[in-house]
Amino acid sequence: MKEEGNKAGLLSYVFLVFLAGIASTIFVLFKYRNISLLGVGLFGALIFASDNLSAPLPKTGSVSVNFGISLASLIIFGPATGMLVTAISIINVKEIIKRVPYYKHLFNAGQYLISFAAVSFFFENFYDRSQTNFFYARNIWIIFLVTYIFFIMNTLLTSGAISLSTGSNLINIWIFNFAWIVPFQFFLSAIAIAIAFLYIRFSPFTIIFTSVPLIIIQYTYLLRHKERRTILASIIQIVKIIEAKDVYTAGHSVRVADYSELIARGMRLNEYDIETLRNLANLHDIGKIQIDLAILNKTTKLTDRDWTEIKKHPVVSYEIVKQIDFLKDRATSILYHHEKVDGTGYPFGKKSEEIPVFAKILCVADSYDAMTTDRPYRRALTKEETIVELENNKDKQFDPQICDIMIDIIKQMPAKA
Ligand SMILES: [Fe+2]
Repeated sequence: MKEEGNKAGLLSYVFLVFLAGIASTIFVLFKYRNISLLGVGLFGALIFASDNLSAPLPKTGSVSVNFGISLASLIIFGPATGMLVTAISIINVKEIIKRVPYYKHLFNAGQYLISFAAVSFFFENFYDRSQTNFFYARNIWIIFLVTYIFFIMNTLLTSGAISLSTGSNLINIWIFNFAWIVPFQFFLSAIAIAIAFLYIRFSPFTIIFTSVPLIIIQYTYLLRHKERRTILASIIQIVKIIEAKDVYTAGHSVRVADYSELIARGMRLNEYDIETLRNLANLHDIGKIQIDLAILNKTTKLTDRDWTEIKKHPVVSYEIVKQIDFLKDRATSILYHHEKVDGTGYPFGKKSEEIPVFAKILCVADSYDAMTTDRPYRRALTKEETIVELENNKDKQFDPQICDIMIDIIKQMPAKA
């Protein structure tokens, strides 16, 4: 019921934002009317190129320079042209190809149009167009101010949508997803000033010189993002190959990543942490690569020597993952994923306060997956049995709070057919 309530709330919010976006666009076009076709054509083409080269953020919007371009068209041609250029930015071919759900398109369009309409209105009322000096101090201040007004409106509206769909705290979402882009806004204002100044002072052709560096910057960001994705995808593929050879753990790491994400959402962690945790979960057992397959696939009781071998895998996993630049800071979570809060785990016998929270989450998710898959010596546990098992090991193996969150998740899971 809660889920449905959230979904209905989210859809109402999306439609409201979209309608408000359309209404505010019509308002700006009717109020200011003066449209430059050259401006719409030139800046529209530039924003179209820029928009389709933006680097995606974790599960949310994008970092793109297109506001800088819209703002430049607002400075040069006025609100009506700026508004039309902004409307062109709604057409994102990449997202259409990726078949992004329609309500995301509506929302992105709506929030962007509202924010830009508000900024246009404010700008036109305070920007002094009678000034012949382009660098007239008040006008420059207004350009910086509207950039930040746009940024705050745009990101707060998006945080509202994420908050409605995930149930996470709005401010928490804003801080972790958007606070880091605050300095980038200064750069956007500077871009707008440069484009507008060169255009007005020299010629429309200067747009070629200002847009090329912009597109190169966007493209570099995009390449870095793609490179990161490719590295992860290749390593995860290796994990799948390792798991395919171990008949009992096929698909284990992917499931541990899913359970870890559910726990992290239950703990209201932010999207960055959730993405990092998922990556760590996917790689937590990669160290098994060096364990003899005969040991991994053994159906008889493991000897002490077998255990000595198995217990090395968190260290090997850690050694591999700490080489990955964007995961190295959290790699100890993998090193400690078999530690228990009472200090009886391996490889070091660390106690609760010494174990990072991500390691504690991985431990619960990992154990839950082990309980719910068939093993040579026992069948998978039932829903009720896993709850009893988790309860019995709370404060021994598992962190009590994380354990309780996992129990809540299990209770909400549908019974298996
Ligand atoms: Fe493990």
